[in-house]
Amino acid sequence: MKINENWNIPNLNEAKQRTKKQAVIEKSLFNIPFEVAQLGVGRTYYLRTYGCQANERDGETIAGILEAMHFTPVKNVEEADLILLNTCAIRQNAEDKVLGELASLKRLRKTNPDLIFGLCGCMAQEEEVVKTIIEKYPHVDLVFGTHNIHRLPTLLYQAMMSKERTIEVFSKEGEVIENLPVKRFGTHKAWVNIMYGCDKFCTYCIVPYTRGKERSRQVEDILEEIHVLIEEGYKEVTLLGQNVNSYGKDLQIEGGFAYLLEEAAKTGIERIRFTTSHPWDFSDEMIDVIAKYDNIMPFIHLPVQSGNDDILKIMGRRYTSEQYMTLFHKIKNKVKDAAISTDIIVGFPNETEEQFQDTLKLVDECQFDNAFTFIYSPRAGTPAAAMEDNVSEEVKQRRLQELMDHTNHWAREKNQAYVGKVVQVLVDGPSKKNPSVFSGYSQTNKLVNFTGDGICAGDLIDVKITAAKSWSLDGEAIKVK
Ligand code: 5AD
Ligand code: SF4
Repeated sequence: MKINENWNIPNLNEAKQRTKKQAVIEKSLFNIPFEVAQLGVGRTYYLRTYGCQANERDGETIAGILEAMHFTPVKNVEEADLILLNTCAIRQNAEDKVLGELASLKRLRKTNPDLIFGLCGCMAQEEEVVKTIIEKYPHVDLVFGTHNIHRLPTLLYQAMMSKERTIEVFSKEGEVIENLPVKRFGTHKAWVNIMYGCDKFCTYCIVPYTRGKERSRQVEDILEEIHVLIEEGYKEVTLLGQNVNSYGKDLQIEGGFAYLLEEAAKTGIERIRFTTSHPWDFSDEMIDVIAKYDNIMPFIHLPVQSGNDDILKIMGRRYTSEQYMTLFHKIKNKVKDAAISTDIIVGFPNETEEQFQDTLKLVDECQFDNAFTFIYSPRAGTPAAAMEDNVSEEVKQRRLQELMDHTNHWAREKNQAYVGKVVQVLVDGPSKKNPSVFSGYSQTNKLVNFTGDGICAGDLIDVKITAAKSWSLDGEAIKVK
């Protein structure tokens, strides 16, 4: 493979190193060089984001940068002068989807020879992926990673003007950059990053390699962002971090996430959500704050991954199923009507039938409101990928189906319990299928479809629930708040 000496290729070994050094917080590092500022005039872009909320939020930064350079967004990929895929690396099927898409989009070059193809996000942080792109996808002009989004103006200029492939991925995280532009995709709900990276190193997970070490933003920067959002009319913020419970540890912020959450609640914004919480460092103070403030939504995503202690240990999760259950019940007892969702992996290396049954037992005991269920997918460079993946595909599929039968049953039961009750819904807008039906989410994150008059996106409406389905509730609006 021919590697150009100007390229910066990521290295997973470097990516996993952790230093105690605090990340520098930069309030004015980002800028658009003068010669690059008009690059987008008369040009269009198409951005597609895959994966989690962190990626969604990065997509908003990328769109913000491109529009600051005067690029115009298009919804139809055929009309684009720049196509950017903002990718996810969490499981192999996420990567296969992107590679398939890249291959199929190549045809557009024929009608637009100046078209620029770019790939960014978590896949760009993986050494093997970048090597595959270099070798097998020569039409990809630009590759950049999660740590150098701020370099996009310069990299894009290089790719467009020099017509040479531009590959720049930093293996390690750098500064926390505060002055990046943002184009929010939502009009009344917004993502707010509170920290970047993850230091948990669960043995199956690629995230600590693709997103770097934990770096928190300062409390005042986060609160300022929420105040601006309130002024702009936003009703709901979701505080984002791979593990929000770790918030502030790197900056020695006293009280950590519990403190930040309470300060965020005091801004008075109508609704606050947060994700994700690792069960290991979910503090009692956090539970107290969630219980105390009406504007902190009583909905917690609490990934368990497995119900078996030996598997949890090999996964590096740092808790037993009993400790998880204790935390689960503590939350349920203290936070009124709390809903809890989870993530579960089946078919981890060496998972026996008995160990899988422990997961089913835990699911039946917790009766989760919702569960995201996955088949284990080996990720190159992680410790689990070096273990023998000895559960057959057939068994993995069967376990997934069995697990989903249980989780779906409880999701339906939980929804059923809402029939006849009144819930507050933040309206997303009219349904695509029927303009007299509106949809939105309840405080406990239930999707509610309902009828009513004079309703607008962004309204907070009380809705009486009339029927329950597996994945949503039906209802009628009773009054505008
Ligand atoms: N294989 C399958 N699922 C995974 N997840 C993370 N890594 C893997 C993997 N290698 C799941 C976990 C996590 C969620 C975001 O994705 O359940 O909580
Ligand atoms: Fe991955 Fe574990 Fe970090 Fe979650 S806490 S991002 S599963 S390493």
